[in-house]
Amino acid sequence: MKQTRIAVIGGGAIGRTHAVAIRDCPGTELAAIVDPFEAGAALAGELEALHLTELDALFDTRIDGAVIATPNALHVPQATMLIEAGIPVLVEKPLGENAAACRALVSLSEHTGVPGLVGHHRRHNPIIRAAKCAIEDGRFGALVSGTISATLHKADSYFDVAWRREKGSGGPVLINLIHEIDLVRHLFGEIGEVFAMASNDRRGFEVEDTAVILLRLSGGGMVTVALTDAGVGPWCWDTTAGENLARFPAMPAVSHMFAGTRAGMSLPDLSFWTHDGPADWTVPQVNRPLEIVPMDSYVKQIRHFAAVIAGEERPRITLADGAANIAVIEAIRTSVAQRRPVAPDLTGQDAERQTMVE
Ligand SMILES: NC(=O)c1ccc[n+]([C@@H]2O[C@H](COP(=O)([O-])OP(=O)(O)OC[C@H]3O[C@@H](n4cnc5c(N)ncnc54)[C@H](O)[C@@H]3O)[C@@H](O)[C@H]2O)c1
Repeated sequence: MKQTRIAVIGGGAIGRTHAVAIRDCPGTELAAIVDPFEAGAALAGELEALHLTELDALFDTRIDGAVIATPNALHVPQATMLIEAGIPVLVEKPLGENAAACRALVSLSEHTGVPGLVGHHRRHNPIIRAAKCAIEDGRFGALVSGTISATLHKADSYFDVAWRREKGSGGPVLINLIHEIDLVRHLFGEIGEVFAMASNDRRGFEVEDTAVILLRLSGGGMVTVALTDAGVGPWCWDTTAGENLARFPAMPAVSHMFAGTRAGMSLPDLSFWTHDGPADWTVPQVNRPLEIVPMDSYVKQIRHFAAVIAGEERPRITLADGAANIAVIEAIRTSVAQRRPVAPDLTGQDAERQTMVE
């Protein structure tokens, strides 16, 4: 069987996860690690892979696809270079630093026919797939309200890397909340309006360390998100779902609670609460957890990427999804700055109109 040769650009924390997933996924092969710095050289040495310091050098090797796991500011420029060279890309989240640049990438991919996907790996997790099935087959009903906790306490050393402290590329709204935005859009559809407050009281960096965000879904239902990278508590997907045990613990707590018209569902434990009798709060509810067969989300993501490269599957998380997620993040930033509810500009038409007025 022909091996799909995939390179990893950026051999840092998540680059390692991708490189190991490529090694562990049947049918794929780690073609190279591209990284000008020591971390990449060390990872390549450890995994006995080719190490390159320049992206250009990749074009002299035979590769079928590339994972972009570099700092956020490099995602769009590097994806543009690769797509222009005809190489399919899996781009880490956030797809880019602003929605306009992301939309230009979407157009390039559509124009050239070279596919791209975004690394919102949770959508490949069997837990999320089970939740999505329960929603699609009507057992959950329509979303009424949801509560998401993204409580993570990052070590001080995490912020030694400058871009993680800087506006535009760092901060938990861009780095962590974007996974929640993608998840809410995936499960319940488009977000019509946001209202948010943020603070940098705890860390004192340029970027926020804490935020509270309200989301109104276009199709009905509202979700609140409590987000911090400076607060202790287990209530976070990353530290409860057991998705990446090499990096995070898996504590027995929940991070997401969704109330539907027919059932209540929490994640990642997949509790699924319903009334056996009338839907009345005085009647006890029964928990019949949804069942799954656990699988490694990152390996599944690479398997999907290989299938996209082969033309056997369409991207599950499209570049357009990545651009829409950024548009919601931009609306949240505007809401924080202007202290008002904001409708995300999902198409770029509002921005275009604004430019014409100016
Ligand atoms: N999907 C997820 O759950 C997840 C988790 C962590 C990080 N990420 C995303 O992945 C990206 C990387 O994050 P990280 O935490 O691994 O950062 P990191 O700093 O650990 O790694 C980035 C790597 O990129 C390398 N690099 C810098 N400039 C480069 C260049 N010009 N060419 C090639 N390599 C270059 C650095 O040397 C470093 O090894 C970020 O966009 C982040 O948001 C996603």
